[in-house]
Amino acid sequence: MMLANGARKVFLADRFPLIGDSDKNVAAVRELLHRMSPEERERALECLRVPAELRSGYRDDRLEYLVRDSGLSGLRAEADLVVSRAVLEHVDDLDATFADMERALKPGGVALHLVDLKSHGLHTRNPLDFLTWPEPLWRSMYSAKGVPNRWRVDRYREILSNGGLRIERLEPTVLAGERDVAEVRPRLAAPFRNLSDEDLSWLGFWLVCRK
Ligand SMILES: C[S@@+](CC[C@H](N)C(=O)[O-])C[C@H]1O[C@@H](n2cnc3c(N)ncnc32)[C@H](O)[C@@H]1O
Repeated sequence: MMLANGARKVFLADRFPLIGDSDKNVAAVRELLHRMSPEERERALECLRVPAELRSGYRDDRLEYLVRDSGLSGLRAEADLVVSRAVLEHVDDLDATFADMERALKPGGVALHLVDLKSHGLHTRNPLDFLTWPEPLWRSMYSAKGVPNRWRVDRYREILSNGGLRIERLEPTVLAGERDVAEVRPRLAAPFRNLSDEDLSWLGFWLVCRK
């Protein structure tokens, strides 16, 4: 979609190779092409290795996968825009990811993230009660399994206050109820005890920052 909308090149950084020419993926791309304007479709089709052959894959000069165990891009001042959705709550090393993002962006470049701070199915009755597990227990049960890292919005603010990215917008998407916040408060694990009630209630957010 980015290429169809005029991006010169798109890099996709992940820990796992997610692209594949399965029937399902090809059908999804075909459906996306079908919904595009003629100009968008033309720009998207230009990126295929073999014109009009969806299974031929994408030209490396237009779409490049950067697959590394760290998930870091390793790019240097090459990106105008960094985008993620439902990724930052999974990264093992949030400091390293933001530092990588800052290095990857050109001066003036923008980073746009949608972060899901919900439990991903790992709470019981209260949407915040997954924050009561002690950190070592949570890590030994769930690290390296794609389970949320549990960092709350205060951690993001702290990281951004130390780096070269300036916050332009930071807005919650979903909030826990006051009763859930009050009920979980006395049982919180150490990393979450100093959170304000407001920060504790954030179950997701949009973040826009600029280098
Ligand atoms: C819940 S999926 C979201 C995928 C996609 N953005 C979406 O919205 O459907 C989380 C993705 O983050 C990736 N991921 C986990 N840790 C990462 C890291 N350190 N750097 C980059 N990607 C990472 C996972 O491999 C997975 O593809």
